[in-house]
Amino acid sequence: MKNEIVNLLIKENKIPVESVDEIATIDIGEFVSTIKELGTVKTDYISREKLMKDLNSDLFEDNVYVYKEVLSTNTLAKFFAEQGEVKNSIVISEKQTKGRGRLGKTWESPLGGIWLSLIIKPDDIEQSKASLITLATGVAVANTIRSFNIDDVEIKWPNDILIGGKKISGILTEATATLNTIKYIVIGVGIDVNFETENVSDDVQELSISLKEASGKKIEEVVVIKKFLEEFEKIFKEFENKNYESVLKQWRQQSYSIGKYAHITEPFDTSFDGYIIGINKEGALIVETADGSLQKVISGECKIKK
Ligand code: BTN
Repeated sequence: MKNEIVNLLIKENKIPVESVDEIATIDIGEFVSTIKELGTVKTDYISREKLMKDLNSDLFEDNVYVYKEVLSTNTLAKFFAEQGEVKNSIVISEKQTKGRGRLGKTWESPLGGIWLSLIIKPDDIEQSKASLITLATGVAVANTIRSFNIDDVEIKWPNDILIGGKKISGILTEATATLNTIKYIVIGVGIDVNFETENVSDDVQELSISLKEASGKKIEEVVVIKKFLEEFEKIFKEFENKNYESVLKQWRQQSYSIGKYAHITEPFDTSFDGYIIGINKEGALIVETADGSLQKVISGECKIKK
């Protein structure tokens, strides 16, 4: 991880190291501070200064890092968390060169999107409730998008945000736990805001939609990030107060998946078809198969057939 980050930084003349050998001798603490400092330096497209101005946040205060380009904000956020980042933090990048999606997929991340990761250090979260954080983040993204006067916003299980059936946002949550305690959670959020469609592959062009396309105008990324952080804090408070039913209710109200017939693929390739009945209190999908039995799906892919 350290070497991957270093290589990218050398390539871009961002840190003054003469040779690869020298890198190995850099003290890790010093290295982390250098990278963090870089995240506070002015970038061209997403202004940290504007973002911090009037940022009314109990959760994140000033630990907000904005980069011009990183491999993946989730990867960097995990690195910070592993290296002892003590507070809740945000890692944002204007572009990602190795953006990661769910289920090992790549995530195209050109300029014009929001690519960010939240590092959350919860005091007391039961492991069984961790997946609800992803659902809660989905609700926060959906509410954010709706606030720009877009009506047709839905959430496809577990965490795709759709406008008129096309994907505008995806969420990748990665948690690290010791025994039964969660050490930290990294929540990666990608939102297609203003990017030019010619900068993404045909597949992404076909299946996704940007906020600019949906609203008919360019909306500044910083404005969207601020609104998202506001929405996230609101729902995260519900979560911290263990008001899980409220999180689930808000998710269910915006669900694209419930009531549809789908093809489900679980990790290790078990797959089956069935009607999606709902989600349970842990956020797992409940699917009724042809023989009338109910299957609980904790993670996997869900392709809607009709
Ligand atoms: C999905 O497959 O739908 C999840 C996509 C998550 C993408 C975001 S962009 C910011 C963060 N960094 C990553 O590498 N991935 C997540």
